Amino acid sequence: MKISVKTGEITAAATDLLAIPVFSANPKAASPATGTNPRLPTGVAGLDRGWGGVIQRVLKSGDFRGRPDERLVVYPANTGGKTAPARVLLIGLGASANLDVEAMRRLGGGAASEARERKLGRLAILAPRARGLRAEDCAAALAEGAVLGAYRYERFKTTNAGRGGRARKSQAPTTTLLFPRAENLGDLRRRAKEATLGAECQNLARDLSNAPGNELPPAGLTREARRVARETGLTCRVIRGAELERGGFSALLAVGSGSTNPPQLIVLEHRGASSKKKGGPLCLVGKGITFDSGGISLKPSGGMEDMKHDMSGAAAVIGTLRAAALLKLPAHVVGIIAAAENMPSGTAYRPGDVVKSRAGKTIEVTNTDAEGRVVLADALDYAVKHFAPVAMIDLATLTGAAMIAFGPWATGAMGNNEKLVQEIQRAGEISSERMCPLPLLPEHRREMRSNIADLKNSGSREGGVSTAGAFLQEFVGETPWAHLDIAGTGWTNRRSPYHRHGATGVGVRMLVAWIRGRVQQNV
Ligand code: BES
Ligand code: MN
Ligand code: ZN
Repeated sequence: MKISVKTGEITAAATDLLAIPVFSANPKAASPATGTNPRLPTGVAGLDRGWGGVIQRVLKSGDFRGRPDERLVVYPANTGGKTAPARVLLIGLGASANLDVEAMRRLGGGAASEARERKLGRLAILAPRARGLRAEDCAAALAEGAVLGAYRYERFKTTNAGRGGRARKSQAPTTTLLFPRAENLGDLRRRAKEATLGAECQNLARDLSNAPGNELPPAGLTREARRVARETGLTCRVIRGAELERGGFSALLAVGSGSTNPPQLIVLEHRGASSKKKGGPLCLVGKGITFDSGGISLKPSGGMEDMKHDMSGAAAVIGTLRAAALLKLPAHVVGIIAAAENMPSGTAYRPGDVVKSRAGKTIEVTNTDAEGRVVLADALDYAVKHFAPVAMIDLATLTGAAMIAFGPWATGAMGNNEKLVQEIQRAGEISSERMCPLPLLPEHRREMRSNIADLKNSGSREGGVSTAGAFLQEFVGETPWAHLDIAGTGWTNRRSPYHRHGATGVGVRMLVAWIRGRVQQNV
């Protein structure tokens, strides 16, 4: 998406839609002249007089109060001599005291979403004066929001005729961020560009997660990972078939055995730091179940279609690796994806089967629908033994229990290293992706013991997020490791300024922030 940063007069930007942020009225303001009306950015009231006072009338009417995410499009008259924008979009920001980076992201998202919905080619967003926020952080958040807010998944729409009748295929609008009094324009431009790239990588993750199971079987994930590698210079290695067998990936193979689409272990590598630097890489491990029917322990049919996004962990890993490469992050990052399709069939693994994992530990399959932890067991073991990472994070749509516990509002975070979980929480604060810590207790581990094998793959319903985490912990040894359960956050049915129905691409922004944080610590 094309995003530029400009300074100077507001009217200088030729645009189809000018987004103007509006703060809600300050209830404590003494003077009724400034206190009762929502507040416009400096200079806008003057411009509005040239536009026939349309904004003034709207605000006077009380119909627009500047509440967070409130939106209204108005049509300025062209009476002031200078050309008025065709449309002005008022966007509420809430109280100015609450203005933060996330509010900026939502502003960018709301503006871009509105422009895209109206199939408008050019968008300009007026950046509000934000006390206490750095302008370059605002530029980054506005760009991020705009790229995410303009996102639509329309690959399978052969026509747009049904929606408003206009046949033109919609695209993300060319966007200008207006900072009337910017001093450090170079910094703003650099940060907006980086944020655009990062958000586009999140959109890639969304595309992958939204893709139907028939479009993106395990080999499709391989195809996409290879495409990204070719595009960015990442290295990509794929293990499958006989090589998986020779490598001892029996758990991954067992989960994939019910499908005609064979499993794949995908390894993407970004060598942004000199390999002479001591210490292993950062490893990101993603659950890549391209469709989860539950297998022989078949899921109920209602909502099963959403299980095409059971590879959202893998999608976040691919998106993050792409971002690491494009942003040239000076770190050594390895992405590992365990891709398989969980299907019931005559060749499928069964409840009661015992499989020997790559690590050598035996797993009694008490439920074929607890397949994510089984494929991750082999992927984590491979990561630990092949790369000896200094830190490892896995992302997985692992449990319905996480969805019940947190809904779409937080990702469950747990691990064997408190500092790592704290780093993740901090990175989530930076990216506004909430990471909520959960315990891994000895009792959780005990719950996963089997009567006939070393482990069983499903416990009781109690403590379902943590028992799944405790299962994974059996395969990481001493490696500093954290597990993120994104079952609730990977997919949404709620619309927000920068999310729509479907895949969220959760994790990409947080992981990029996390890698950046690690880089800063190490220098
Ligand atoms: N992919 C599902 C978890 C899931 C549920 C993700 C809803 C996103 C939304 C996972 O493979 C699964 O089926 N987990 C089972 C585990 C149970 C059998 C121990 C679950 O949570 O029900
Ligand atoms: Mn499952
Ligand atoms: Zn699953």
